[in-house]
Amino acid sequence: MFAKVKPNTQIIGQNIIYFNQVASTNEFALELIKQNLAENGTVVIAEFQSKGRGQYGKSWISEPFENLMFSIILKHVTNSAPDPFTINKIITLAMYQQLKSELPDHSIAIKWPNDILVNGKKICGILVENNFSGASLKHSVIGIGLNVNQHFEHIMHLNATSLSGLKGTETDRELLLKNILETIELIYLSSLNTGNQTICTDFDKALYGFGTKGAFDINDQIIIAEVLGCDQLGQLILEIDGKEHHYPHGSIKQYIA
Ligand code: BTN
Repeated sequence: MFAKVKPNTQIIGQNIIYFNQVASTNEFALELIKQNLAENGTVVIAEFQSKGRGQYGKSWISEPFENLMFSIILKHVTNSAPDPFTINKIITLAMYQQLKSELPDHSIAIKWPNDILVNGKKICGILVENNFSGASLKHSVIGIGLNVNQHFEHIMHLNATSLSGLKGTETDRELLLKNILETIELIYLSSLNTGNQTICTDFDKALYGFGTKGAFDINDQIIIAEVLGCDQLGQLILEIDGKEHHYPHGSIKQYIA
């Protein structure tokens, strides 16, 4: 079905590998890299993953033929490779912007570092796996799982939502994929050509809790803090009692109201 997606791009999605079923699109993409067969911008997409990977070693489970599960391979020019967190920002911001245009009447935010929430529920998860040669970033595999036509209303414990759940109508996944790939490429090329200042500012402003006070679990204590943004290492910057603190990924938990 997705074989006929032809995005209007220079790099991303010019080569699309489609599977009805695969263990994990990220795993397949990493294997292509290992075998030196990876073309820059290749997209690997599957209708079903038997071993879909999520963050923190968790699995990603998604109903077949209802959602979008794909990975993008980026091959970096070694001496001008973006840092890994910039890749994360580019992709997360692109998904955020795409979802904002799909759902103009809903409240959309990035839950640091890379989940997208709509009305406080997760709609999209991103898993970036990087491949280094020494200290240089050679490839990134960006895995994206987006809930499109699956319904989550009856699975309350997941705190998940989907485009169809929010819109009340089915979404054309092919067209959505095309639009997503075009949005990602726009932001990626703008990062390569004009730098990351705007991307960083837009990313910070889209963060859940930006400019408002909210609750965090920090060292097993509930702390009220305001999100100020993200630093160059990808750490979350919080203001607590008038002071700035930086937290690495995985060290704190943000509560969703
Ligand atoms: C998360 O835990 O939020 C990240 C989920 C990432 C899931 C996507 S689905 C396509 C790609 N292939 C995988 O095995 N995982 C990612």
